[in-house]
Amino acid sequence: MAWEAVADLDQLEEGDMMLCHMGGEPICVVRLYEDEAVAVHNTCTHQQQPLNEGYLQEDDSLICPAHNSRFDLHTGVPTGVPAVDPIPTYACKIEDGAIWVDFEQQTNDAAIPHKPYH
Ligand code: FES
Repeated sequence: MAWEAVADLDQLEEGDMMLCHMGGEPICVVRLYEDEAVAVHNTCTHQQQPLNEGYLQEDDSLICPAHNSRFDLHTGVPTGVPAVDPIPTYACKIEDGAIWVDFEQQTNDAAIPHKPYH
């Protein structure tokens, strides 16, 4: 395991998202609630647009800003077209006043999305 503190809690308010890079991959960290954050791959599986520029929804899903694919942030599963493939999700926790991600602990079996073409 390789937990890494990616942000202090006061850097990321509830409903905020941030982009970070871990293991050479772009990771989107979302603070859903006071005591819960999630980490997903930042690349939409439709046409590789960055998800951290998207729109967080009340049901803990994220809408891609490019063509409105919707992803469940807990499972990575697309719940709205045009994306059909899931995004990777990673172990994430709030502890000691910080948000921690373990990039080596992928919590679903989604394939790593292609690199963006731009
Ligand atoms: S790139 Fe995300 S919906 Fe098309």
